Amino acid sequence: MADRYLTFTGTAPGRFLTRRLGLPQPAALKRWSPERPELQGDRLLLTAGKSHLDLADTGLALTGSAEKPLTGTAEKPAAVLLDATGVRDVEALAEVHAALHPAVRSVAESGRIVVLGAPLDPADHHQAAAQQALEGFTRSLGKEIGRGRTVNLVRLTDARAAESTLRFLLSPKSAYVSGQVIETGAYDESGAPAGPDRPLTGRTALVTGGARGIGEAVAGTLARDGARVVVLDVPQAEQDARRVADRLGGTALTLDITAPDAGERIAAALPDGLDVLVHNAGITRDRRLVNMPAERWSSVLDVNLASVLRTTDALLESGTLRQGGRIVATASIAGLAGNAGQTNYGASKAGIVGLVRALAPRALAEHGVTVNAVAPGFIETKMTAAIPLFIREAGRRMNSLTQGGLPVDVAETTAWLADPASGAVNGQVVRVCGQSLLGA
Ligand SMILES: NC(=O)c1ccc[n+]([C@@H]2O[C@H](COP(=O)([O-])OP(=O)(O)OC[C@H]3O[C@@H](n4cnc5c(N)ncnc54)[C@H](O)[C@@H]3O)[C@@H](O)[C@H]2O)c1
Repeated sequence: MADRYLTFTGTAPGRFLTRRLGLPQPAALKRWSPERPELQGDRLLLTAGKSHLDLADTGLALTGSAEKPLTGTAEKPAAVLLDATGVRDVEALAEVHAALHPAVRSVAESGRIVVLGAPLDPADHHQAAAQQALEGFTRSLGKEIGRGRTVNLVRLTDARAAESTLRFLLSPKSAYVSGQVIETGAYDESGAPAGPDRPLTGRTALVTGGARGIGEAVAGTLARDGARVVVLDVPQAEQDARRVADRLGGTALTLDITAPDAGERIAAALPDGLDVLVHNAGITRDRRLVNMPAERWSSVLDVNLASVLRTTDALLESGTLRQGGRIVATASIAGLAGNAGQTNYGASKAGIVGLVRALAPRALAEHGVTVNAVAPGFIETKMTAAIPLFIREAGRRMNSLTQGGLPVDVAETTAWLADPASGAVNGQVVRVCGQSLLGA
């Protein structure tokens, strides 16, 4: 399961040889650890256009500024934030180039570039063109920047509402998130402040399919952030579910999520309510459509989509999911780009995107609950270890970071969306794919 190529290119002879042969040079990504909770170095703030954004309102510790010379500083910046919210026409895009052209080279390994944009103004096609241009710019820079560095775009109207998102993108927790466009909404006065060490303290989180793989990592990360976790999995996985729950001080709940009364049974098991619902359980039953029996089709649709719809409806309607709650569903890049042999799986995961987009505004208005999705790319799990070597190797490298992600990368993204401070993030589908070449 280990990525031996990544280990090899980390050695001096490996680096020499692979460079000579023109092969990919994946960087060892800097991920979060208790010893290294932040990336080391300045966070430089640059501006393009006439901005009205007040980043001083946030606790983001932006130590740099446009005036600070980039050469001669002791440390390379860990991050560059480009405030391009004031870019309203094509002429102002020249300022994007002027700001980042000299800065880009100096960004540290595994560093971050975060472009801040404004929502597109439907009444002003010049503004819309210039702001949409930032998207193409961000995705292109992400593909060329290399050395474990990521580039993302946040469209925002209010810096305070975007704070939890910016913290996440500037931190080592977002190591495998690149080339993404995330929109944040309005500031909610009742929202929690961003940044506390254990933001989920006092909250209950349920993770379906939590006995192994990505779900196990999600349960671990939510527990690290203070949540009381409930690990849900099928009765056959009871032993693993208990092992995970015991390790995290949580509880196991064994039931098949496709049971028609799964939502009611979860509600009955959680009389005190639920704050975070992570729909992670998922299966694949791959076959080309010509060879796919109806049973393979329906089992994937049932686990990956129908049960997500049923349990979501039941837990919202019963009030089990409390005000301030968070739903995080699991899509996949196969649902965005499509994948041969996965018409059933691709349909189910695209369905998740539809669910999230349609339900998000209503769930927030009626229940105070946000609804978002993570869309993993190639993640190193038992599922991907079973892929034949050649296809596996191609899947691993076909992204801007030229490596697979780890379950913890999906878990960290889920934890950011589950954070009480992320109330302004709603209806988003965030890919955790190292900017895969597949999909939007
Ligand atoms: N591994 C990847 O590269 C990848 C990529 C994209 C999306 N995903 C998605 O991420 C999620 C987790 O993937 P994984 O690789 O950890 O898978 P996995 O197979 O390792 O784990 C899935 C878990 O879900 C449980 N589960 C399956 N059916 C269930 C049911 N009916 N009721 C309750 N639990 C059930 C399984 O028992 C298992 O513990 C899935 O939704 C998957 O589609 C994974």
